[in-house]
Amino acid sequence: MEVAVAGTGYVGLVTGVSLAHINHHVTCIDIDQNKIDIMNKGISPIYEDKLEDLMKKNRSNLKYTTDYKEAYKNKDVIFVGVGTPEREDGSANLDYVYQVIDQIKASINKDCVVIIKSTVPIGTNDIIEEKLNTDSKYKIDVVSNPEFLAQGTAVKDTLYASRIIIGVENDHAKKIMEEFYLPLTKEPYNVPIIFMNRKSAEMVKYASNNFLALKISFINEIANFCESVGANIEDVTKGMGYDSRIGNKFLNAGIGYGGSCFPKDTKALHWLSKTLGNELKTIKACIEVNKAQKIKLFEKFKKDYPDLKNKKVAILGVTFKPGTDDLREAPSIINTELLLECGCEVTAYDPIGLDNFRKIFKDKIMYANTIISAIKDKDVCFIFTEWPEIKNIDLKLYAKLMIKPVVYDGRNCYNLEEVKKHEIIYKSIGR
Ligand code: UGA
Repeated sequence: MEVAVAGTGYVGLVTGVSLAHINHHVTCIDIDQNKIDIMNKGISPIYEDKLEDLMKKNRSNLKYTTDYKEAYKNKDVIFVGVGTPEREDGSANLDYVYQVIDQIKASINKDCVVIIKSTVPIGTNDIIEEKLNTDSKYKIDVVSNPEFLAQGTAVKDTLYASRIIIGVENDHAKKIMEEFYLPLTKEPYNVPIIFMNRKSAEMVKYASNNFLALKISFINEIANFCESVGANIEDVTKGMGYDSRIGNKFLNAGIGYGGSCFPKDTKALHWLSKTLGNELKTIKACIEVNKAQKIKLFEKFKKDYPDLKNKKVAILGVTFKPGTDDLREAPSIINTELLLECGCEVTAYDPIGLDNFRKIFKDKIMYANTIISAIKDKDVCFIFTEWPEIKNIDLKLYAKLMIKPVVYDGRNCYNLEEVKKHEIIYKSIGR
């Protein structure tokens, strides 16, 4: 089919490229000419495994443009995958979504289906359908089709998705969606498609992300409690995970969740529930626990070393998780701010994220190209992201290179027995 995709962030670009891969003809639209120029050279503007390969491989099915007026013409299906960032009060900012909707309405020249991939509050698809059809020559069906891709595995999560959720309000739109996604339901993808009404589809997205965030906050709180009672969170989660009702995924205790989704989507759902007079108390707790968790190690550090002035601190890992250069809501940011406030000298290392970290901290901190140069002659080391090379470092190096081998590990990277062998003064989470 002829497809347009509005927005070339993680959601839009990965969606567009994946659809081109299953043989749809896709035009990706963005307002940023710079990004479009880069993509037209076959280069991905975001760091995402396998994305650039697929962009190159499916070049003949892909166009990139800023010219939305042309791009929305003659399309069967138009995806909206622009951001819905957090407003100050926690609610979702839908300005970008509505801007795109206005542009679509002003540009289309035939009936079509508009598919909302952006994460939007429950009821937004209804508003969009009304906006698009009021005083329009064309009949526009609006479909809710939330995405469940995670950064770092976005291409795999799209092509081999756990499920495709489609919220539709009529059979016509349902039929088009069945035909559109048919290739993904077959070998080698075999993705199940689940149809429901639009509000339920919108809710599936929020409920899924909020549940995963809640799982992390729950396990982080249990981890903190393990410290109080002398239990080991890793043994505890291992023991819990054998129960298939609980499962063993997303039970890694750590320094809190970050990224562009969980923090924003928990706050947006909480905001919506409060506004509707039916506050989700578990989500409120989830947000509070995560806020406190992000600075848990810093608090331990402050307690252990009350005089932090001029302490030389190495930070290993700055991105919100491995496999991405994204720093949004990364625990490294708030911790670096706190360390600087206390007069520490900070040197950061990350295999991918340093350019973005530099944009935030400029010359307030130092940047190291290797783990070795980051920890050399430092008083203390903090770990905020479990990149494989940080996990696999030869533990001898801490004692060899640091003034004193003091390590605060926010991602439980090392085995406690191994750490003991190297006489590292080691604090981690829930162990
Ligand atoms: C998340 C969801 O996993 C995706 O399913 C969803 O589509 C996406 O949000 C979205 O709404 O767009 P993402 O933000 O890329 O994906 O990253 P996750 O892998 O979920 O990790 C989020 C945060 O949770 C990271 O900071 C990670 O370190 C933390 N985390 C994850 C833990 O602390 N413990 C765990 O066990 C798992």
